[in-house]
Amino acid sequence: MARTDQQPSPDRRLTEAAARLGLGRRRFLTVASAAAALAFTTELPSAHAADAELAPRTLTENPFTLGVASGDALGDAVVLWTRLAPRPLEPGSGLPPTGLVRVDWEVARDEQFRKVARRGTARAHAEFDWSVHVDVDGLDQGRVYWYRFRVGAWTSPVGRTRTAPARNRHVDRVRLGLVSCQAYEDGYFTSYKHLAEEDLDAVFHVGDYIYEYAIDAAGGDRKYTDRALPSLLAHETTTLADYRLRYSLYKTDPDLQAAHAAFPWYVTWDDHEVENNYAAGIPEKGQSPEAFVARRAAATRAYWENMPLRMPRPNATDLKLYRRLHYGRLAQFDILDTRQYRSDQANGDGWQFPTAESADPRRTLMGATQERWLLDGFRSSRAVWNVVPQQVVLSRRKNTTAAVSKLSMDAWDGYPAARERLLAGVEDIGVENLVVLTGDVHVAYAMDVKRDFDDPDSRTVGVEIVGTSIASDGDGEEHPGNWATLTAANPHLKFYDGRRGYTAITLDEEHARADYRVVSHITRPGGTVSTAASFVSEAYRPGLQQA
Ligand SMILES: [Fe+2]
Repeated sequence: MARTDQQPSPDRRLTEAAARLGLGRRRFLTVASAAAALAFTTELPSAHAADAELAPRTLTENPFTLGVASGDALGDAVVLWTRLAPRPLEPGSGLPPTGLVRVDWEVARDEQFRKVARRGTARAHAEFDWSVHVDVDGLDQGRVYWYRFRVGAWTSPVGRTRTAPARNRHVDRVRLGLVSCQAYEDGYFTSYKHLAEEDLDAVFHVGDYIYEYAIDAAGGDRKYTDRALPSLLAHETTTLADYRLRYSLYKTDPDLQAAHAAFPWYVTWDDHEVENNYAAGIPEKGQSPEAFVARRAAATRAYWENMPLRMPRPNATDLKLYRRLHYGRLAQFDILDTRQYRSDQANGDGWQFPTAESADPRRTLMGATQERWLLDGFRSSRAVWNVVPQQVVLSRRKNTTAAVSKLSMDAWDGYPAARERLLAGVEDIGVENLVVLTGDVHVAYAMDVKRDFDDPDSRTVGVEIVGTSIASDGDGEEHPGNWATLTAANPHLKFYDGRRGYTAITLDEEHARADYRVVSHITRPGGTVSTAASFVSEAYRPGLQQA
């Protein structure tokens, strides 16, 4: 588990980071110096010692405006999160630029906090934007808990969470939410309002928690008339202050808060947490490597500050986010990071015909270390279901019925050798019951993962559930313009819906089931939820069938 990971020495970290960014060590040191001021200092515990402690009574306004969250549940532990922000849409959130505050926390077996299981005190530091991460252990496995924070006269909203069943334990079923892509300016988070009312054990967020683009005073397509968002949001995020403010805006949303407070989340990022379609150290647009590495370090730090993660604080340039968790004997979760270590998109990115460049076997989407780690994890898995929450579409997506068609260079289609290594590994190892959970594309798909996508009769080695976006791309429509073509061009594509929503996944010993929930509209409040379709795949006989 991540919490036992050893940190490599700073020197080795520098060399590794330089290699990942595709820069020489000397060049990297120049680049890194741009990021050093905001990043390396985070590793020095002495930076805390000098922090002046603020008396809680100096907090004269409610600091719990961003809600609470929990995540990365284990059999005996769960991470609790909050962040103090009396004025969330002001720079510095209405708190001084230095200092610390002690924040009390409580975990109880009941909603009224009569039976308190654990309690303690954490520190919120200005240096980490007053965020609080508590890894509460010593809990009972597979159990619901309630939690809250307190500072001075202020008590946070109550969150509900759930520990995971121990790895060797039989579990009848697990219910999971799958969410991604929540561009604030594209509409209301109505999908989260409905998600929070589901009966789920945990939620997977597979990326695009924020978007970097400018947001106007009316909140874009939310078209606010009762408030004006600060002009500080009206430019693309590049600095630490920009990214922090963006998380504050998102986390003031009551529907997002409700979804965090209802379930533990397992999060991973995609591109927009930094910049659209970036690849490792390479920006989408023409930033210098120096400027981009500083931007990525800022984005990484703000992500860590705002997520219920057990991972150690990020170093200068990266955050190890891929990780493995278990849900009894029923499921193993291998959560991937296909953004931070990837080769640059081939053929200039976008939708392009495959070429020798995209087929280059040296190209990677996960990086060699993560690739090995994933296959090793498959080898040692004893779970019924091998669940892989990740970012971009794994299965082939041709956008015409011609023999050779353009493919998305940003998805696994643009990294065919990396996909072949993964699927060959799945076959060689004999991975049973592979369920890939995907986001990124702002539409819902149900897809059979074929051993050879050129041969529709080849073996189905798993299933891929692509969840639609929470908000990105606005209201959407059931059948987007390319619906008929995409469906005809890809026989392994069993379902395609272009509306907003989320997916509820149920796993038991016999079946994996996906219920595709869609909302009626998001560009004004009050959208209703319905089920667009449900698909099941039998255990040990992969292949999606409409339920
Ligand atoms: Fe997205």
